[in-house]
Amino acid sequence: MTTPEHRSGRTPVIAAHDSAVRDDATTKRGAWRATIDSLSRPAILATQDGRILRANPLFAELAGRQAATLEGLFYWEVFPRRAGPLDLSLRLSPDYPAGSETVALGGGVTYEVLGSVLHAPKRRTTEYLYRFIDVSADLEVCTIAGRMALAKGALAVANSRLEQTLVNAVKALAGTMQVRDPYTAAHQTRVVSVALAIADELGTTQAVRRCLELAGLVHDLGKHYVPVEFLLRPGPLNPAELSIVRQHSQIGYELLRNIEFDWPVPTAVHQHHERLDGSGYPLAVAGEEIGIEARVLAVADTIDAMVSHRPYRIAMTPDMAFRQIERVGGAYDRDIVDAAAEVARKGRLDLSAAEDATRTRDRQG
Ligand SMILES: [Fe+2]
Repeated sequence: MTTPEHRSGRTPVIAAHDSAVRDDATTKRGAWRATIDSLSRPAILATQDGRILRANPLFAELAGRQAATLEGLFYWEVFPRRAGPLDLSLRLSPDYPAGSETVALGGGVTYEVLGSVLHAPKRRTTEYLYRFIDVSADLEVCTIAGRMALAKGALAVANSRLEQTLVNAVKALAGTMQVRDPYTAAHQTRVVSVALAIADELGTTQAVRRCLELAGLVHDLGKHYVPVEFLLRPGPLNPAELSIVRQHSQIGYELLRNIEFDWPVPTAVHQHHERLDGSGYPLAVAGEEIGIEARVLAVADTIDAMVSHRPYRIAMTPDMAFRQIERVGGAYDRDIVDAAAEVARKGRLDLSAAEDATRTRDRQG
């Protein structure tokens, strides 16, 4: 008897495996459907070439169509109605997993399109999540104000080399976080304080200190693009939601990378969740590939996160936090952890503000 598998030239075992992979991908996509539908912004799940696999009700509303009728269409033909894909779609890949593009539609209407690659090698699936944020109407996002401040700062530096202008611009950008997510804004300020205390203990150069001051202040800038419902939810996030939260360091890097800093601020932001043993993200770089600034930020960031109250666990004491860091040994720079412990021993680790932050909304991802 000739089975479909025989006709296709595949053995029953391979066919069964392929079927299992397909079922797994379908299950994964099913999980994503619930997540996409729950987002408070228009969003789609698409193939690499931009065909819509799933559109949430808000995207359907934006397109003026029933959600089910959108599947299989190219998103750009539906919204923002153009002849070809956005540059963002051409840039995205598993090696370049997150990005954004501003799209002016005319009439003062501007959308920020956020793209995320959802890559699951074991399932052999690579899908693309696009979210569409109306930045012309949504003052909460504050991105335009922040970018203008940075652009003005960068221009002034280029013209007059006034370092302080750029510093002030970065502070203005950090201030935009205060509107949307006051906890993260306060967390960034505390991380600067802890990172500088560690730098003093290490005896770093003034350049490293200056970089920490700026990078610490905006290290979670990319959280502007994390759906706020993920940041506010008290329970754990599912893997798909966690992957979105974890893209904040890549997004932060993208927002900063074209600014001509005298210090590696964009790289420090990009790498602040990388770990010495390669277990971090977004690029899983290791060892000396991670700059000293990012290694200091990683320790300061982790300590502050641990001593802060979370909706899903109680706050640790600084001693508990250090013991926890010891347990994950190779992830952090030993000299930097020792310096942080010495700072704490000397009573210069001021985390009282973190311990009081009982209404926290933080997610470090
Ligand atoms: Fe972060």
